[in-house]
Amino acid sequence: MNNQNEINTLRNSAYLYDFDIRDNLTSDIPFYLTYGDAAKGGVLELGCGTGRVSLILAENGFHVTCLDISDNMLAVFEKKLDEKPQSVKANIEIVKGDMADFSFRKKFGLIITPFRAFQALTDENDIQNSLSCIRDNLADNGIFIINVFRPYDGMGEEWVYAEKVQWERIDEKTGIHIVKKHWGDKIDIKNQIIYPHYAFEITKPDGSFERTVDNLALKYYKYEQLKTLLIDNGFSILEKYGWYDKSNIENGRELIFICRKAVKNTYER
Ligand SMILES: C[S@@+](CC[C@H](N)C(=O)[O-])C[C@H]1O[C@@H](n2cnc3c(N)ncnc32)[C@H](O)[C@@H]1O
Repeated sequence: MNNQNEINTLRNSAYLYDFDIRDNLTSDIPFYLTYGDAAKGGVLELGCGTGRVSLILAENGFHVTCLDISDNMLAVFEKKLDEKPQSVKANIEIVKGDMADFSFRKKFGLIITPFRAFQALTDENDIQNSLSCIRDNLADNGIFIINVFRPYDGMGEEWVYAEKVQWERIDEKTGIHIVKKHWGDKIDIKNQIIYPHYAFEITKPDGSFERTVDNLALKYYKYEQLKTLLIDNGFSILEKYGWYDKSNIENGRELIFICRKAVKNTYER
């Protein structure tokens, strides 16, 4: 597990996560809602973070079990849930845990790992264990959706780069000025792992200044590798897309696979 030393938990910037993501990603939520039939059998979100996706699924009447390893991301989620009506609260179960090692008593109709959460697993054993847990916790006719970013051809040393500004904004609610920066200090090309760092520089209206840093390690997959990994671990691929509008996988920024459990002993490429 990566997270013994807090890699990938977004511990220091968890409270800024929704502010960071808000403009970048909204289109995946309607995409997940199109799997409503499967979601009726209960949803498990792995790496649920602040509940960005789970809360909307719950508001749409689906029961969602939300698993994440990060205390601070879950604390933000719980605070948001506190403000929701009882009908939504009743649809959410938050569990602190590791997506590489989990087991629930029930089987789920839909298991999802939105916004590339699965890429936080970089150790081969963790990856295999996670897929085995997903298979074990998926209903026989259930659906597993995995989403990772598509690496570009020849991804390499340009991932080692000096700190640069990603965005700069003022939070209108609080008047806080926030600058997000990022840099990469290494890439493991053999094992396909990048090591980005995110820094947030926060200046409050009273002039006080704070800088937080979070460290990530993310495994990347080429199209054929992800396909093979899923098939070798007992999934058959029903659909595949390159973006949340269900556009062709060949041209998209993302790799999104919609899978079912393959029947044992008939795993096929
Ligand atoms: C990029 S965020 C995605 C959050 C949410 N799925 C979304 O779409 O907004 C990745 C999340 O995965 C969580 N995570 C990282 N490693 C994990 C692990 N081994 N088990 C469970 N959650 C993990 C992090 O704490 C973080 O909340």
